[in-house]
This record gives sequence, C-alpha cells and structure tokens, in this order.
Amino acid sequence: MIISSATDFREAARRKLPPFLFHYLDGGAGAEQTLRANVDDLQQVKLRQRVLQGSEQLDLSTTWFGRQHDLPIGLAPVGLTGMYARRGEVQAARAAASRNIPFIQSTVSVCPLAEVARQVSQPIWFQLYVLKDRGFMRDVLQRAKDLGASTLVFTVDMPVPGARYRDAHSGMSGPNAALRRIMQAMLHPTWALDVGVFGRPHDLGNISAYRGHATGLEDYIGWLGANFDPGIGWKDLEWIREEWQGPMVIKGILEADDARAAQRFGADGIVVSNHGGRQLDGALSTAQALPAIADAVKGQMSIFADSGVRTGTDVFRLLALGADGVLIGRAFVYALAAQGQAGVEKLLAIMEKDIRTNMVLTGVKSIRDIGPHLLA
Ligand code: GLV
Repeated sequence: MIISSATDFREAARRKLPPFLFHYLDGGAGAEQTLRANVDDLQQVKLRQRVLQGSEQLDLSTTWFGRQHDLPIGLAPVGLTGMYARRGEVQAARAAASRNIPFIQSTVSVCPLAEVARQVSQPIWFQLYVLKDRGFMRDVLQRAKDLGASTLVFTVDMPVPGARYRDAHSGMSGPNAALRRIMQAMLHPTWALDVGVFGRPHDLGNISAYRGHATGLEDYIGWLGANFDPGIGWKDLEWIREEWQGPMVIKGILEADDARAAQRFGADGIVVSNHGGRQLDGALSTAQALPAIADAVKGQMSIFADSGVRTGTDVFRLLALGADGVLIGRAFVYALAAQGQAGVEKLLAIMEKDIRTNMVLTGVKSIRDIGPHLLA
C-alpha cells in the first residue's frame, strides 16, 4: 500500500497487528471523547499564511537541556512498544538517534533499559511511573543513571489506569483473553513470526531486571492497576528530585496551577498531555489546555506537548500554541508496527517536510520564531 502519512501507517499497522495490540494502541478511555478532541481541536487551529518572506534557509534545530536536536520532535514513552515490532524499543530508539531526536523509554517497556542503551549512540530519556514498590523506583532510577540516561520524564497522570473499554473486546483483557490472543496471532502470521516468535522475550524488561526473573505479560492491565499508586502526591516529587540530579520533566499537566507547582517542586520541564486521551475522558484537549499553561510558565521551564499529533502541521500548531517541543506517541508506533525502524524514520521525514513547508508558508526561519503571532 502507498504510505504518505501517519494515517496510512495506522492502516498498515491495523492490517498487520493482532487486534488486541492494535486496539490497545489505537484506543482511549471511556467514550474516547478526549482522544477525538485531541485530533479535532488541533486540526481547528488556524495559521496565518504570509507571502514573499524569503524563507530559504530554514533551521529546524532545537536545544533542550543543553543538547541540540535536529527536529522539534521527541518519541513519547509508550508501554509495550516491543510488542509492536521485534525488540521495538531498540528499533524506535535507533530511528530517533538517526534523526538526532530524543527517544523516551517507558518504565513498562518490553526491552530493558540496558538493551536499548547498549545499542544506541545517544543518551536516552527515561520515563518513570510512581509504583507502589518504591524499591523498584529507586533501582530503575539507579540503572537509568548508570546507563547514561540524560533526562527523567516523570508521568503523573496515571495514578490509576483509565477505563479502556476496547481492551475487553479486543482480547487485551476480558474472558479467555489468552486464548483469543493466540488465535489472533495465528491469523496475523507476519507479526506472529517476526515479533511473536523472534521478538522474545516478551516481558516487562525493567521489572524483570529488578526482580531477577521474568514477569509475564499475561495480565499487563491487571498489573498496572495493582502496582500504580493512587496515593501519589506532590510530596513524592521531592524524593525523586533528590534521587535524580539531571533534567526532570513532569508529564501529564493540563492546568496552569499544576505547571507552576511542577516548577516549584524543581521540575525543569513539563509535558502538556492527557496521555493521548487514555486517562480522563472529557479532559481538555492539548490544544485547549496549552495556551493558558504557556502564559503561566513559558520561558521559565521547557514546555513539551503531546496527544493528537499526527502530522508535521500538528507539530507546528502546538509550537504556535506555545510548546517548545512536541512528542509523538501513537503516530510513531503505527509506523514502527508497519515497517520497523525504517517506518519511524520515514514518518519523521514526512513530518519534517510538513514543518519545512509550513515554515516557508508562514514566513519563519527557525523553530523559536514559531509562536502565537502565527495563529489566525
Ligand atoms: C500506559 O501508559 C497506557 O496508556 O496504556
């Protein structure tokens, strides 16, 4: 099939993946209102076209926490990435490294941190959840430090997992889930051989490394529910701030007050995010939430944004709304599932081209020149 956008990669991923994996990635919480609003509200953002601005030399680089990157994009942390392609975290991290952009590895990755860090040339960013087992948190932070991870992304919008209604239907959870997944794998032989057989071991690599034995994926959702800590409060940031000396980014902020609080507790950045519409259904979309947060903390800390980004134009729109950088989650995993590392590189090239085109058509020459003055 012809692939020229993230939408095409989504369709290719849908054909290739067993439904339990496709729907886990593609779906969101509840009636998926926020999931849809993320995409729709971004598409409603209108940009000012300018002409004859002489935008020939374009600079797409950005500097985050002292390191220069080639594009204003990072790969968001996505749990179970290694189920979507063979050793998927390694392939995605390599694609990110090839474009000199950050790859953020999830706590609940299939590949352990060490496997990824060993195979990529640039420091990874590491995403941490608050889990009940603080010993695990300490251990995994120490591992991340020892492996040269540069930036910590601490996710705070998942004290409990959102209600993902698709999962029970798809076989991710629900009755006879294991049997249904085996049958689905048999009907998707390309995935079954490449990932199901040759992509093993399939476990939560960081947690197995801590426990010293394999942790199965059989009841991943149940595990999340049992181990995430609904008791998390701002005070928990204090000890994480003490444990982690490098840049720390708080992910899952939708309110200006929370952005200010993150700053007070020593964060160097935030990710404006509703977890891709996977948590509070009815929460503000990123496009709605971002301007007030930018008004509150722009210039005082780094502002990243994610959720609903499918095109380079969406990246451009979030930058215009006040972000300093944009993370892509589902979009890169669709590409990874469809074509592995090459797919992610292709998606990044497509997005880069969109951003370049938009820079010319709006008359800006560098990423830092993109701002609210471009909004119509
Ligand atoms: C985990 O982070 C999820 O959104 O399922």
